[in-house]
Amino acid sequence: MRALVTGATGFVGRKLLARLQDPIVLSRDAQRARQDLQAFHPTVFAWNPADQAAPAQAFEGVDVVFHLAGESVADGRWTPAKKQRLQDSRILGTRNLVATIAKLNQPPRVLISASAIGYYGDRGDQKLLEEDPPGEGFLADLSVAWEAESQKAATSSVRVVNPRIGIVLSPDGGALARLLPIFRKGMGSPLGKGQQYMAWIHIDDLLDLMLLAAERESLSGPVNATAPHPVTNRDFTKTLAAVLHRPLLLPPVPKFALRLSMGEFADSLFHSQRVMPNVAEQAGFPFRYPQLDVALQHLLTKS
Ligand SMILES: NC(=O)c1ccc[n+]([C@@H]2O[C@H](COP(=O)([O-])OP(=O)(O)OC[C@H]3O[C@@H](n4cnc5c(N)ncnc54)[C@H](OP(=O)(O)O)[C@@H]3O)[C@@H](O)[C@H]2O)c1
Repeated sequence: MRALVTGATGFVGRKLLARLQDPIVLSRDAQRARQDLQAFHPTVFAWNPADQAAPAQAFEGVDVVFHLAGESVADGRWTPAKKQRLQDSRILGTRNLVATIAKLNQPPRVLISASAIGYYGDRGDQKLLEEDPPGEGFLADLSVAWEAESQKAATSSVRVVNPRIGIVLSPDGGALARLLPIFRKGMGSPLGKGQQYMAWIHIDDLLDLMLLAAERESLSGPVNATAPHPVTNRDFTKTLAAVLHRPLLLPPVPKFALRLSMGEFADSLFHSQRVMPNVAEQAGFPFRYPQLDVALQHLLTKS
């Protein structure tokens, strides 16, 4: 499998590169990417997703494209300029990728184009399957448009899969890396009443699932990339504190306090998303870490 990866310098992309041989990478800053990713021996091409079509020469001999690039949702306040970057990097970025794929004489077999559980909005206790309609709000609208752009690449010869990625757990990046210093000081606490569901996935299961999606011809369209046992925020908080052997002493964090410090992004932390990986389970995907306590034990106690 010869794979091309966008967003390879990011948290998930870097972990994915470690699982690929002779990867091709598209990055906004090719020189920095060559340096940062030298351990994976990639061939790097420059590409600014929002501004230009992807370079066609990068796709020579490529049979799988993993498209992960996008402005970070969690870093920085959602100013109007930031929201524009969130949209442009994903919607225009995917359009510019697909424009190139559509012109190739030998297109890749499969495009694995990231999406997110933000697709579902805020849905209480409802179990959410791939066929359920999208929710409401900025992230839901963004995910709908992002997926739609990628699906324009779907032809008889190009299969398109959209992993709707949940909260990816690894001590090396993403939400868990941000929570660890707080919980290690014994300062963790639930967000509000903590009743909102969090659909999480162990990084190794996410990588396995994306690689399965690349190989399994029968998979196309949305695939919920979440563990089969989503938990409430209260249970997540309790489990993380227990795995770290730390007490939970502080009162819940009220929404207004987080909104003051983080801005609009804070709202999404209170969205309830009980997402179920129906397509992955139907495909017989063997989750290595279906339960949160085991996943956290593995991530936080391995040497
Ligand atoms: N981590 C999670 O829990 C999670 C959950 C749901 C969905 N996802 C989605 O999965 C994908 C990968 O996640 P991640 O956590 O690895 O992301 P990340 O660490 O933020 O990395 C994303 C990469 O995208 C590129 N990028 C950043 N800002 C950009 C911009 N304004 N325009 C174009 N490209 C830009 C960068 O690569 P270069 O600088 O090399 O171009 C960056 O390394 C993202 O699309 C994310 O939305 C992640």
